[in-house]
Amino acid sequence: MANMIDRSVATVTDWVNARTPGLVPFYKKHMSEYYAPKNFNIWYYFGSLAILVLVNQIVTGIWLTMNYKPSAAEAFASVEYIMRDVDYGWLIRYMHSTGASAFFIVVYLHMFRGLVYGSYQKPRELVWIIGMLIFLTLMAEAFMGYVLPWGQMSYWGAQVIINLFGAVPYVGEALTEFIRGDYLVSDATLNRFFALHVIALPLVILLLVVLHLGALHEVGSNNPDGVDIKKKKVDGKPVDGIPFHPYYTVKDLFGAGFFLTIMAFIVFYAPTFGDLFLEYDNFVPADPLVTPEHIKPVWYFTPYYAMLRAVPDKFFGVVVMGGAVLILFLLPWLDKSPVRSIRYRGWLSKLLLTIFVIAFVALGWLGLQSGSETQTLMARIFTFYYFAFFILMPIWTRMDAVKAVPERVTMHD
Ligand code: HEM
Repeated sequence: MANMIDRSVATVTDWVNARTPGLVPFYKKHMSEYYAPKNFNIWYYFGSLAILVLVNQIVTGIWLTMNYKPSAAEAFASVEYIMRDVDYGWLIRYMHSTGASAFFIVVYLHMFRGLVYGSYQKPRELVWIIGMLIFLTLMAEAFMGYVLPWGQMSYWGAQVIINLFGAVPYVGEALTEFIRGDYLVSDATLNRFFALHVIALPLVILLLVVLHLGALHEVGSNNPDGVDIKKKKVDGKPVDGIPFHPYYTVKDLFGAGFFLTIMAFIVFYAPTFGDLFLEYDNFVPADPLVTPEHIKPVWYFTPYYAMLRAVPDKFFGVVVMGGAVLILFLLPWLDKSPVRSIRYRGWLSKLLLTIFVIAFVALGWLGLQSGSETQTLMARIFTFYYFAFFILMPIWTRMDAVKAVPERVTMHD
């Protein structure tokens, strides 16, 4: 019986392979014969989780689109309709809104893993650069999605962010009109944001994810030791590598189960997550005549928002905010350490990285506050540290006393 099944599978495989020559080699190259280091730890779950969240966003997004109306007159009411009248509409919307925050949690942790294990270093610079392009596109995607429910925070958030482009010398005013498609945030703005949010940007993100993984599989994965899996068996397979499928597909499935349990808990019991995932002000319809008392972006943008507010001049504020994201592109060339992983770096790297994390989280918190004098001072100090961390990286990574790296990967239980 087993033989018969094997033979049938082989027949179908041959049939497919003869007609789509790339399919089976593709599966082998990226799954069953992709050798990943055997020492992956918890930090290596976040790449596959990002794919899972991306799929969740696309599927729930398609279902939301079936009942959402992209017009200034109807958008807010159509979202309320989805929440109250559409079968399981509340579930689909909360999965999508929680998914947006989950996406940033997962991607921030994924990027932090890269920072900790030096995954952006040679030869994975392009994997990092493509990752950064994904991050930029994801920010635009999330911003435009937040405008769609046409609540107070959608409207005024869009107003604040689009006005930032007005700080660009000479063309600023024309640029803001071009983005809005009108002299103020209006129906035309909502329409184009809808088009970009539901089709243009998701397509770009999908394409970039394919390129991201293609680039990674060309050079192979890094690992917590940051050493290459060089030693080969007689058959040419790496001694310290294991086939992605089935070993890591099974491991990632466990991670997905754990992640989905937490996500379900939030979706069912705390979908607004105390004003963080869905802001209370956004349950009030957009009103161009009433400015909310405290306009603030969703938590994932607040570190950058805090930097923007820390600078008194609008133009330089925008430069600092944009620079904070753009400087990450340069990371592969700023880090001059001879070792990749934090495990073999000295105390200086560990200390500076810890302070960096504290500064980034603190900026995130400050971006949510009203911005008192003390808070502004704190935001300035942490912004200064953020930039100093990267700009001085070529110096401190050279100064840091590193430990000898092992020949082969090590296993920690
Ligand atoms: C939609 C968003 C993203 C998806 C779906 C995604 C997916 C993945 C996957 C599946 C892996 C391999 C598994 C793993 O190493 O965890 C990976 C590796 C990697 N990603 Fe991403 N990624 C995303 C965003 C980013 C971003 C924003 C960055 C950084 C700016 C980034 C940088 C990296 C790096 C450096 C690696 C190699 C890590 C290593 O081998 O140690 N990724 N990504």
